[in-house]
Amino acid sequence: MVHSNSLFSCAVLGAAAQSAVPDGYELRPLELTDFRKGYIDCLANLTVVGDVTEQLFAESFEEMQRAGGYFVVVIEDLASQRIVATGTLVVEQKFLRMCGRVGHIEDIVVAEGQEGKRFGKTIVTRLLHIAETLGCYKSILDCAEDNVPFYEKCGLTRKAVQMALYAPNK
Ligand SMILES: CC(C)(COP(=O)(O)OP(=O)(O)OC[C@H]1O[C@@H](n2cnc3c(N)ncnc32)[C@H](O)[C@@H]1OP(=O)(O)O)[C@@H](O)C(=O)NCCC(=O)NCCS
Ligand SMILES: *[C@@H]1O[C@H](CO)[C@@H](O)[C@H](O)[C@H]1NC(C)=O
Repeated sequence: MVHSNSLFSCAVLGAAAQSAVPDGYELRPLELTDFRKGYIDCLANLTVVGDVTEQLFAESFEEMQRAGGYFVVVIEDLASQRIVATGTLVVEQKFLRMCGRVGHIEDIVVAEGQEGKRFGKTIVTRLLHIAETLGCYKSILDCAEDNVPFYEKCGLTRKAVQMALYAPNK
């Protein structure tokens, strides 16, 4: 059972969260009801999402809520009740660095037509704030070469390389 409509407590977003977006928009944790506000459509601006039904969405939401450490943030356009931007922080618990934590920033998307309003930077800044609040000693992400200047504006620097192995038939 899902315990709350909200994926995580908005308290960790910090007091500056709401003033970080213009009037008419709301920055907040992902809610179960965001399926009906086009959350999946927003994600589709980034990559293939597939035919995610409301049931499947709810199961995945519940899985993340139960596991903890998943911080999916959205920006809603209040007039249209549509999700126009999103980003995720996953907090990884470690043994090394005195049982430290690492923040993984994932799935930063600003919907087509909504770029250049600082939504991307605002979300990344909020996710970095959450990571810091939760004691992460670093936050990392993978991105396309084209997006390097954007992440540099968010305060990150280039480090190491990404490697990948894709499962066949997935
Ligand atoms: C890349 C993306 C997240 C940027 O979000 P955005 O809301 O349009 O960007 P912001 O308005 O927050 O930009 C913040 C700063 O970065 C700069 N910037 C943004 N994208 C940039 C780019 N591709 N190249 C150079 N600078 C860029 C902006 O000019 C701005 O600079 P400023 O603070 O000096 O004015 C967004 O365009 C997007 O979702 N694109 C498609 C999906 C995608 O590629 N996601 C990233 C996957 S790794
Ligand atoms: C991008 O996101 C918007 C807002 O959620 C959505 O309406 C639109 O269909 C998406 N576009 C694509 C190409 O996925």
